[in-house]
Amino acid sequence: MSTLSPPPKRIWWNEPIERVELIWIALVLIWGLIMTFMMPYWHVVGKQNLSNEAYRTTPEVYMAKAQAVVDKYTIRTETDRQYPVVKPPVGSDIYLVARLWEWWPIFELEVNKSYRLHLSSMDWQHGFSLQPANINIQVLPGYELVVTVTPNKSGEYSIICNEFCGIGHHTMVGKIYVK
Ligand code: CUA
Repeated sequence: MSTLSPPPKRIWWNEPIERVELIWIALVLIWGLIMTFMMPYWHVVGKQNLSNEAYRTTPEVYMAKAQAVVDKYTIRTETDRQYPVVKPPVGSDIYLVARLWEWWPIFELEVNKSYRLHLSSMDWQHGFSLQPANINIQVLPGYELVVTVTPNKSGEYSIICNEFCGIGHHTMVGKIYVK
């Protein structure tokens, strides 16, 4: 048989299904159903849905709120880029700005105290990834997410961007101190 001559059996595909193939199809179907069921199940019992608080915003409105916290609670600046290190009151609302290509500002938080961390982007999509805690949240322009964070271990945490956002993506690294 070649592509030039027709197959000898015209209806070549009408064959009984092999038993092994049937078993595979059944297994894939069952696994698919399990995975489908896991989505709503894990949503309820997985305790991993971080942000169920989200608002519409604009970069201007969000930036104004972030700037107000920075103006009020900056305790020092860091590195050659003069990053403000902000020590906000316990329990307060803090605003992290995602933009090309930085996380701004640096926060200094107290261990075992809660804060309401707001997240939004000034330009386009970024990925908030807190390391080594491995907490990952999509950050989008026009939306403000609020996550209650209670750091349970002191140290220096890195925020990396895990959503490719252009040529400076790999330099988009931020920091949170927990003391
Ligand atoms: Cu921001 Cu990658």
